[in-house]
Amino acid sequence: MFYHQFYRKSIDQPEQFWLEQANNLEWFKVPKSILSKDKYVYDQWFKDGELNLSYLCVDKHIKEGFGDQNAIIYDSPVTNTKQHITFNQLHHEVSKLAGGLQRLGLQKGDTCIIYMPMIPQVLYAMLACARIGVIHSVVFGGFAPHELAIRINDCKPKAIITASNGVEIQKIIPYKPFVDQAIAKAEVKPEHVIVFDRQLGVEIPKKNYDVDYQTLVDEAPSIEAISVNSTHPSYILYTSGTTGTPKGIIRDTGGYATALKFSMKYIYGVNEGETFWAASDVGWVVGHSFIAYGPLLNRNTTVLFEGKPIKTPDASTFWRVINEHNVKAMFTAPTAIRAIKKEDPKGQMLKRFDLSCLKYLFLAGERCDVATLSWTEEKLQIPVIDHWWQTESGWPMIANMVGVALQDIKPGSAGLPVSGYDVRILNEEGEEVESSVEGYVAIKLPLPPGTLSNLWKNPERFKSGYLDRFPGYYFSGDGGYKDEDGYIFITGRVDDIINVAGHRLSTAEMEEIVSSHKSVAECAVFGVHCQLKGQKPLGLVVLKTETSLNHHTIQNEIIQDVRREIGAVASFREVFVVNRLPKTRSGKILRKLLRNIADQQQYNIPSTIDDDSIIEEIKLIYKTNKVGIHK
Ligand code: COA
Ligand code: AMP
Repeated sequence: MFYHQFYRKSIDQPEQFWLEQANNLEWFKVPKSILSKDKYVYDQWFKDGELNLSYLCVDKHIKEGFGDQNAIIYDSPVTNTKQHITFNQLHHEVSKLAGGLQRLGLQKGDTCIIYMPMIPQVLYAMLACARIGVIHSVVFGGFAPHELAIRINDCKPKAIITASNGVEIQKIIPYKPFVDQAIAKAEVKPEHVIVFDRQLGVEIPKKNYDVDYQTLVDEAPSIEAISVNSTHPSYILYTSGTTGTPKGIIRDTGGYATALKFSMKYIYGVNEGETFWAASDVGWVVGHSFIAYGPLLNRNTTVLFEGKPIKTPDASTFWRVINEHNVKAMFTAPTAIRAIKKEDPKGQMLKRFDLSCLKYLFLAGERCDVATLSWTEEKLQIPVIDHWWQTESGWPMIANMVGVALQDIKPGSAGLPVSGYDVRILNEEGEEVESSVEGYVAIKLPLPPGTLSNLWKNPERFKSGYLDRFPGYYFSGDGGYKDEDGYIFITGRVDDIINVAGHRLSTAEMEEIVSSHKSVAECAVFGVHCQLKGQKPLGLVVLKTETSLNHHTIQNEIIQDVRREIGAVASFREVFVVNRLPKTRSGKILRKLLRNIADQQQYNIPSTIDDDSIIEEIKLIYKTNKVGIHK
């Protein structure tokens, strides 16, 4: 019962509800305005309040006597390193780096790209930017220089903070050379590239714009956090959209801090002083909200893990980290569990560790299949909680709010709406559908604090992409349905976005690259089922008649093109040559049909396809190459 009352209050009296939550923060200037409608009937929270995220994540805890508590535990099986960093040490690093950035001329409102692996310096860099009102944009390391260049052109950073290299399973990722390549490609040139040398013996190419991170920090003064307005952008986070150009999600400061503090307590059920671990990467929204800002705001010790669920060194790593660092609640993607389950189906490795510290395991980033949920529940014997959200929302929208009261878990459902989110399932006309009927997942405005406040330098795309489809609602881009108890089941994206190993990617972007190959006449790229990664991209190409290259060469070149342009993270490894692609009368390629055939979902062959041999040819290719559900 308590959840329902608590939730209702957030919907019926949003201003009162969120003011109470905002009061849990230390504001430099307490807001008087709670919710104001300014642009596109889209709402801003705590407009006249002032605060600083870096102060709240670091200084506040020291002031309250917790300077010796661990703020970060850096655990890196790929480099055999473990480091405990207290709030006092964090303060030293962050306030000096902020001083260094200021010396280089970075000021409030400037932008700074952070392209770094999972090392403590990435958190120092984010917090140092926030300390002086510099808007950071963290770019995931799995993205190639081309993608980095797109982001440089869009957000025009004054500086880029990077590291000599990253370490993936048995390979070195050349971060600094990637940055150099991206700058060479980009039209906009940042003034400085601040390079942290990991001292792993990797050669760092030198450029005139280079600044040594450690020297900068050593020589800089330690500076105080400045006061910024609640609506000041704390960061831009680029995410895949339905075109080739990524969208720069803008996050505010005051609403975000309020939402994260709230999430730690009411969604993740962790108290101040406890250890929280989100096994993701700071390049994704999960990393921003639940490796960096959320836990630190709530005075939790956050685990910064540089490794993978398997092969670093084996499928017991997650259990070792939980046990060793006394993790109370953990967050990962279902794909990570599937990888562990594949290596250790009986969960033998798990038995080697006392995991009694772990109270909850949270899963998100992609749909959680029932088999994965059941396996994890059975092995861990704790509540395993699927929950749904997006880069845009910045924090969960549908969940089982264990910090309020644990509700029944329904396998396949992401749970019930989180406080502040009035989740509705709409039909094409924007009318609410009945329970169990599938439709579009939309949120009735106003959204609660902490969600996207706009798209960077592109308010028109923000409006057309999220607000125009269903007036009065935010459109999520996902499909789903509600059952009679109000539990929501997410069925998947209704656009060209796919989720590969919990990584959000645009098939439209891949298609642009594939179609630009000189031998390709036309093509389709879409997501098909993958047992490990949930989904993976698949390309079908029709070749130009005059091409002289053989199929194998063309396929390899296309795969390399996507890897070079987007990055290894695209996991684009399969492309097949076909004679024709199925189309509507108006010439639109039937991608959904192609996907449904691969995944053996129900499908109807439209009357526009007069020749069944197109479908038969595609079925044969799928079968021969073990595509989708045929695997
Ligand atoms: N920097 C550079 N390259 C990266 C990278 C990073 N941070 N992360 C991934 N890559 C590369 C990988 O090395 C791999 O390259 P390869 O093609 O040369 O082998 C490629 O991108 C694909 O990586 P990934 O999708 O991670 O596949 P994998 O086979 O290496 O690992 C899993 C499979 C399931 C173990 C892994 O995907 C995983 O841990 N998933 C969980 C992801 C997660 O937590 N997501 C949370 C988002 S909320
Ligand atoms: P991202 O913006 O990278 O966090 O990806 C967001 C998208 O991932 C959502 O729009 C969904 O399509 C998908 N997603 C995230 N969490 C879940 C979940 N628990 N169940 C189903 N899909 C999810």
